[in-house]
Amino acid sequence: MIRLERLNKYYQQGDEKIHVLKDISLEINQGEFVAIMGPSGSGKSTLINIIGFLDNQFEGEYLFKRNSVIGKSSKDYAKLRNQNVGFVFQNFKLIANLTVAENVGLPLLYAGYRRKDIGERVNNVLQSVHLKGIAKKLPSQLSGGQQQRVAIARALISKPSFLLADEPTGALDRHTSQEILKLFLDLNQKLRSTIIMVTHDYQVASQSQRMIQIMDGRIESDRSVSK
Ligand SMILES: Nc1ncnc2c1ncn2[C@@H]1O[C@H](COP(=O)(O)OP(=O)(O)O)[C@@H](O)[C@H]1O
Ligand SMILES: [Mg+2]
Repeated sequence: MIRLERLNKYYQQGDEKIHVLKDISLEINQGEFVAIMGPSGSGKSTLINIIGFLDNQFEGEYLFKRNSVIGKSSKDYAKLRNQNVGFVFQNFKLIANLTVAENVGLPLLYAGYRRKDIGERVNNVLQSVHLKGIAKKLPSQLSGGQQQRVAIARALISKPSFLLADEPTGALDRHTSQEILKLFLDLNQKLRSTIIMVTHDYQVASQSQRMIQIMDGRIESDRSVSK
């Protein structure tokens, strides 16, 4: 589904050109659960922002479902992103003055769905993340783990081709992290969701199917996890 070929990324900082991603070649198939690990500053977020069509400033080839994304307009890029990617972040990024149901339904509202259809989809997706009965609450009334479940529901509501999670357990305690990881495993196994997750936590990463280590902008290792 995702294929990167000799991808390079540079940031210009003053007079200096910083080489952030170096010759990244990578293939991720439908249904995989991949963990990306590496020290802070190694380029993990830069890489997944490119994979998630948030950033089109790079060299090399990116084939998505066998089609090159190179040279697309920013409008087409946004379309690609909205139709295919569900994002989950470390700090949840829920909108404080919207209820759970409103937060989860927001992507569909933007996409022009009718409120009646949105309501049904929201109920279904809240059920799939085991969050029934809190639809009318505000984010501030929820625990961190519940807030992350809401964010995962919001990421899933547009039926994306893949989920991208950047340190999704980074703000959670060990027990709650494990619960969120179990939810990802469940989504991967039951709904065949493709999940690409950045994590610092080896304990978390080792429960995925495949671990990719990034060091200083390069893929240091890429191996399937033996269970
Ligand atoms: N917008 C930016 N401008 C300049 N340098 C950046 C920018 N974003 C990230 N970097 C640099 O790129 C490198 C990789 O960053 P990042 O992808 O965020 O790493 P990670 O997610 O692995 O911690 C770091 O050295 C960081 O300072
Ligand atoms: Mg990062």
